[in-house]
Amino acid sequence: MNILISGANGQIGTELTMHLFQRYGKDSVFPTDVREGGDGFVSDYLDITSRDALYEYIRTHNITRIYHLAAILSGNGEKNPLTAYHVNMEGTLNVLEACREFSLERVFSPSSIAVYGGDAPRQNTPEDSILKPETMYGITKVSSELLFDYYHRRYGCDVRSLRFPGVISYKAEPGGGSTDFAVDIFRQAVDQGHYSCFVREDSRLPFMYMPDVIASIDGLMDAPQGSLRRRTYNVTGFSASAGDFAREVSSLVPGFSIEYAPDFRQAIVDQWPESIDDGPARNDWGWKAEYDLTSLGKDMIQHLKSSSAGGNPNGNSGGHVKEAS
Ligand code: SER
Repeated sequence: MNILISGANGQIGTELTMHLFQRYGKDSVFPTDVREGGDGFVSDYLDITSRDALYEYIRTHNITRIYHLAAILSGNGEKNPLTAYHVNMEGTLNVLEACREFSLERVFSPSSIAVYGGDAPRQNTPEDSILKPETMYGITKVSSELLFDYYHRRYGCDVRSLRFPGVISYKAEPGGGSTDFAVDIFRQAVDQGHYSCFVREDSRLPFMYMPDVIASIDGLMDAPQGSLRRRTYNVTGFSASAGDFAREVSSLVPGFSIEYAPDFRQAIVDQWPESIDDGPARNDWGWKAEYDLTSLGKDMIQHLKSSSAGGNPNGNSGGHVKEAS
């Protein structure tokens, strides 16, 4: 199996690439991105919005599976809606066409809680709720989910997707989303002892820690085709408010202080569920998250303190990246 990863230098891609290197061997995994960077590896330049370039890359490297992570997230997407539409829609369509044309064995691509809008229930929200997002990012993710269903139904493509909540990690920087406050708070606490939070204290959302994100991708991609009853599953770890994060950080970083200065991202998170139902993923392929806010908090602070003290907690080298999931 030869694996292409798009958006390999982003928040999820950075860690998924290292994980897939370990799992399948470096010679079988091809990280790509339009930006330089990568923590512990060098990615090839590939613009996923160019179908010709994608096809050429697939032929050259005999690609059989794609993890398509390249995307413009919700916050950056509202600053540049046309760019978000172009990157997210063209990228997804090209990957799906490649799956059909080259009979790829399997494709993974993340979806998001951003598919929900204000009409969906906000507690324990199931997959099949009303999907009327108001952000360009959410609109492209609903469209992508529908395209996954279409390519599976019409062409038999084995396309699989997870609706992630806010993703938290200490390696790569978050990628311009509206849930970035839950990562920034840990980084700023360790660096400066203070955080100015861009959402209100009572803003409550679902989250997942990166080891659970990687485990859920493996779990879905390893599941026998026959066990799947849908193309896109909700997955979640725990739900917490910005105030809950602040209290957790205060207990770990003495003297930590926080102020709340909501910006345009407040209106985005106000549309999203406070918690989502991941029952179908549990039932169909045995999904279960390991981390809650307490275990995540300890791990985040420990690794960030170690790296700010000059250590290298990842065993990797290289800088951080700024955009894309
Ligand atoms: N973390 C993402 C965002 O905030 C949600 O998918 O855009």
